Amino acid sequence: MKYKLKIITAALLLGAANALAIDLEVDASKSLTKIQPTMYGIFFEDINFAADGGLYAEMVKNRSFEFENRLMGWKQPNTSAHSFNEQSGIADIIHTADNKTNKNFARFTINDDQGYEIINEGFRGMGVKKDARYNLTLKAANHDGAIKKILVQLIDKDKKVLGETSITPNANEWKSYSAQLSAKATEAKAQLKISFVGKGTIDLDMISLFPEETWKNRKGGLRKDLVQLLYDLKPGFLRFPGGCIVEGRTLAERYQWKKTVGNVEDRESMINRWNKEFAHKPAPDYFQSFGLGFYEYFQLSEDIGASPLPILSCGIACQFNTGELVPLAELDPYVQDALDLIEFANGDLTTPWGKVRADMGHPKPFNLKMIGVGNEQWGYQYIERFKVFQAAIKAKYPEIQIVSGAGPFPEGPHFDYAQAELKKLKAELVDEHYYKDSKWFRENAGRYDKYDRNGPKIFAGEYAAQSVATVSPDNKNNWETAFSEAAFMTGLERNADVVYLTSYAPLLAHVDAWQWTPDLIWFNNLESYGTTNYYVQKLFSNNKGTDLISLTSQGVPVTGQNNLFASATKDSTTKEIIVKLVNTDKNAQTVAINVNGEKLNGSGKLIILTSAGLDDLNSFEKPKNIYPVEKKFSPKGNKMDLDLGPYSVTILKLKVK
Ligand code: AHR
Repeated sequence: MKYKLKIITAALLLGAANALAIDLEVDASKSLTKIQPTMYGIFFEDINFAADGGLYAEMVKNRSFEFENRLMGWKQPNTSAHSFNEQSGIADIIHTADNKTNKNFARFTINDDQGYEIINEGFRGMGVKKDARYNLTLKAANHDGAIKKILVQLIDKDKKVLGETSITPNANEWKSYSAQLSAKATEAKAQLKISFVGKGTIDLDMISLFPEETWKNRKGGLRKDLVQLLYDLKPGFLRFPGGCIVEGRTLAERYQWKKTVGNVEDRESMINRWNKEFAHKPAPDYFQSFGLGFYEYFQLSEDIGASPLPILSCGIACQFNTGELVPLAELDPYVQDALDLIEFANGDLTTPWGKVRADMGHPKPFNLKMIGVGNEQWGYQYIERFKVFQAAIKAKYPEIQIVSGAGPFPEGPHFDYAQAELKKLKAELVDEHYYKDSKWFRENAGRYDKYDRNGPKIFAGEYAAQSVATVSPDNKNNWETAFSEAAFMTGLERNADVVYLTSYAPLLAHVDAWQWTPDLIWFNNLESYGTTNYYVQKLFSNNKGTDLISLTSQGVPVTGQNNLFASATKDSTTKEIIVKLVNTDKNAQTVAINVNGEKLNGSGKLIILTSAGLDDLNSFEKPKNIYPVEKKFSPKGNKMDLDLGPYSVTILKLKVK
């Protein structure tokens, strides 16, 4: 590469190792291709307590006593091994008819008025905020009116009461009750204590506590701070509910969307497949209440302006686990689930599943345009099942785009086989996954440059740079991973004629309950923050533009020469040219940009994300340690020099006349 020699004072001031400007030519005269509205989206999976204990704002763990260990999450501190008559009280689990979806409830026998208590520990504690209000609901059947009052208290670790309320159970039969508590102090590890006035027997079920303040203040809704972070990404799509959780360790444990809609209390709880996946991060208390179910995922997609992208089981359990297969002759119920899901999302009120959606509160369709068949399946077993789904979906809903999987790895025999077969099948969107080190991301920015322009479009559905190794618990969301992903993303954008959807994975992680790292957003029971990788995603998504335009240096795309990566788009709505520049070099570099094909009006801005150290991070203590900084930029004419700091991601926005 030849460089034009210039003396650039600013570069010297910045301490650039060389004062050579790299010429960049931007040609805005024509659109090379449209940037798809879905280009930058979100991958959601219930891993790391992302749903229960995370996005779903329920604070009580095992609220309906359905975990395998029925009282997991609950303790009865002042009962002991004494004989029953000496005990203050006891909780027994009553298992009702097996054909029910909510099978169990707790029967409390109280011997000692107010001497008995049961405490729920929440999801590694409950986060309560001073002066905030919390909605308690429960179901009770009070035998012979024996219990006069149910006392409900939020307590801290020293059992100090932070807030309290009570319920008068006035019916022998099951009845729903509600009450409100407010907290006197902020506490990250509060617990919920229940005690009783009166002696005798009372049954309780669905003991639930939600903050009053949720996203859009929906009752039983989602955590506001977490949805806000998602909303701020302006995501083009929301993929749900995973990930491997779709497949299940066994077929019986696959995700079945029909069991996740309708009345919340009738949604059958199930073990979460990440419960025992990693010996180094066991989570025996990880179950799925499905309070966040498919209706809520569609609603969330709508709320955040994202196109919904549900993924369903294709009849193969996770091939890293059992790999159980549904015989082809028995695949019908699985295919029917896909067809019914499309009806649930888009069908009118006269259709059975459209009516279910309407009855849940959304008469209008959810405007589903895409559906995924399988996650990380591989081999002929996948292809032969995919064919069955493809034929059935296209016969009934030709307008629905189908996402197919390409296995867990971005290269190798499984990948090559899937690519070749899916091409023959004229697959529309192929989901590729890459969990690789930072260097791989920098070295593969040209991955799609040579992809077949007549083949399937690409969904880069799961990717994240790993600072140590895939599934290592020591991976960090450090700055090197983030700017390396940014470098790679310029390659995704440069190939927007082939790459239609992209998403970082996984999305959310509870700091005390995660299984997989790195993750885009970390949270505890009170707070959350976006990682450095989050801000890279946000910058690309918020500045994606509408059309790809040409950006070259010495006549070729900028794919890592001199550790520089770049792409350019224009935005026909905001009338801007947007140049994304990623300097992965330890030294500052200067670029000399020449914009052709549009007249600039002299105003613009620079958004810069940078940090000095490769290991630098955001954290709860310093959530904005690495954070985009915006400044005005006023070019004189169409040529401009720009200094790119070491290890920096720069978005240059130029207004056109
Ligand atoms: O993102 C975590 C897991 O990684 C996903 O569940 C799976 O699809 C991939 O292997």
